[in-house]
Amino acid sequence: MTDEPRPGPLRVLVLGAALRQGSTNVRLASLVARLIDGHGAVADFAPLPEFDMPLYNADVEEAHGLPPGALALRDRLESSDAFVIASPEYNASVPGVLKNAIDWVSRVRPQPFKTKHALLVSASPSMAGGNRGLWVLRVPLEHLGTRVYPDMFSLARSHEGFTEDGDLADPGLQQRLTDTVHGFLGLVEADLRYGCLQRRWYEFLGDRTGAPVTQRAED
Ligand code: FNR
Repeated sequence: MTDEPRPGPLRVLVLGAALRQGSTNVRLASLVARLIDGHGAVADFAPLPEFDMPLYNADVEEAHGLPPGALALRDRLESSDAFVIASPEYNASVPGVLKNAIDWVSRVRPQPFKTKHALLVSASPSMAGGNRGLWVLRVPLEHLGTRVYPDMFSLARSHEGFTEDGDLADPGLQQRLTDTVHGFLGLVEADLRYGCLQRRWYEFLGDRTGAPVTQRAED
């Protein structure tokens, strides 16, 4: 993933992408962080309320630069080898607060999403478990160059999905989530240590690197 892999265990940012207290997605993020730690990597558990930021406005960006919450999220991403997002599904799509955070952070140079792998998980009281929202979430992330792990995990009936200890009430689902997290960490480790994936990311195939009008295109 990088030219010079950092020594030591993998570091993985785990974003609980919901604001409300008692969020099932923040609970799911907390569980994923525990599974990551249990596998010998280091999780950085990060509930979205830690990154307060206004709605994206190009005038505000021009006048004041990025808000502290966006810069803090950038810093946490930068110090991680990969990230996990646990996100609710709103109206079959990505909640606005999460998309807003991605939009702000995408304005930083170097753009931090493009060097990372990501695993997407969701929780919802519905039977689909918020899975449609994850398919939508892939689009901005893949657009930004993130390597989004093919497998995703969506917890249906999330309101009754957790034990008091924060595990999943269904042992089969707990095992599936554990296996998914371990598979993800294996891919990140392999790419980090052995450079499996070459990165050449352009917003549009016809972009020419360096032209100011296509400043989002980066090698
Ligand atoms: C929802 N919810 C929802 N659930 C779902 O499965 N599919 C959907 O399309 C939506 N749409 C939706 C829109 C809006 C505006 C709200 C507020 C809620 C319900 C949602 O999954 C539920 O509130 C979850 O509990 C949210 O996740 P947290 O807050 O528990 O992490």
